[in-house]
Amino acid sequence: MPLEILKLSSTPPSEQPARSAGARRIFEETAPSLRTLPAEDQLRFERKYFGIYLENPEWMFLAIDSGQILGYLAGAPLTLPVHFSLNPYLERFRSEIEREFPAHLHLNLTEGARGMGLGTKLISRFLSEVRTMDPFPCGVHIVTSPDSENVRFYLRNGFERTTTNGNFLFMGKTL
Ligand SMILES: CC(C)(COP(=O)(O)OP(=O)(O)OC[C@H]1O[C@@H](n2cnc3c(N)ncnc32)[C@H](O)[C@@H]1OP(=O)(O)O)[C@@H](O)C(=O)NCCC(=O)NCCS
Repeated sequence: MPLEILKLSSTPPSEQPARSAGARRIFEETAPSLRTLPAEDQLRFERKYFGIYLENPEWMFLAIDSGQILGYLAGAPLTLPVHFSLNPYLERFRSEIEREFPAHLHLNLTEGARGMGLGTKLISRFLSEVRTMDPFPCGVHIVTSPDSENVRFYLRNGFERTTTNGNFLFMGKTL
C-alpha cells in the first residue's frame, strides 16, 4: 500500500486506538528526555505536546505506509487559552500569535522516515485543511530552538524566523 496521509478522525473508530498508540510511540521516541522526568511531569509533558491534540482528532494527521505509522502532525487551527496555560512560554509570543499566527502544529517522524519529504507532505495537508475554514486563520506558527536541525526544514516550508526569546525560536508562516 502506498504512503497515505490520513486524518485520525477519518479512520474507522475501531482502528483509532491502534493508530493513536502508533503516533504516541513516535512522540515518545522523539522525546527521549521524557523518561528521565518524574512521573507527574511526564504526564504534563505528554498532555501538552501530544495528548491534548487527541481530544480533537480532526486536526491529527498520520503518515502511514503499509499500515505502519511513520509520523504525525498534531495541529490546532486556533491557539486556545488551554494551550497558553499548558505552555507558559507562549506568553512571550502572545501578540504575534493573536495578531498574525493563530494556528500551530507539532510534527514528528520516526527516525528512518526523515529526509524523504513526509514532513513537507504532512504540513501541506494540514494547511490545505486549515484553508477550507471560513474564515481561515491568517497564519500558523511553530516554536523550536534557534540551533535545532529542524529550523532549515521550516524555512524550506515557508516559515520565517520571527522572534527569538531565550532558547525559543518562534517561526511563523502567513496563510
Ligand atoms: C523535522 C522533520 C519533521 C522534517 O520532516 P522530513 O520529512 O524529515 O523533512 P523533508 O524531507 O520534508 O525535508 C527535508 C529537509 O528537512 C531538514 N531536516 C531537518 N531535520 C531533519 C532530520 N532529522 N532528518 C532529515 N532532514 C531533516 C533537512 O535539512 C532537509 O532540508 P534540505 O533538503 O535542505 O537538506 C523530521 O525530520 C523530524 O521529525 N525530525 C525530528 C523531530 C523534530 O525535529 N520535529 C519538529 C519539532 S518542532
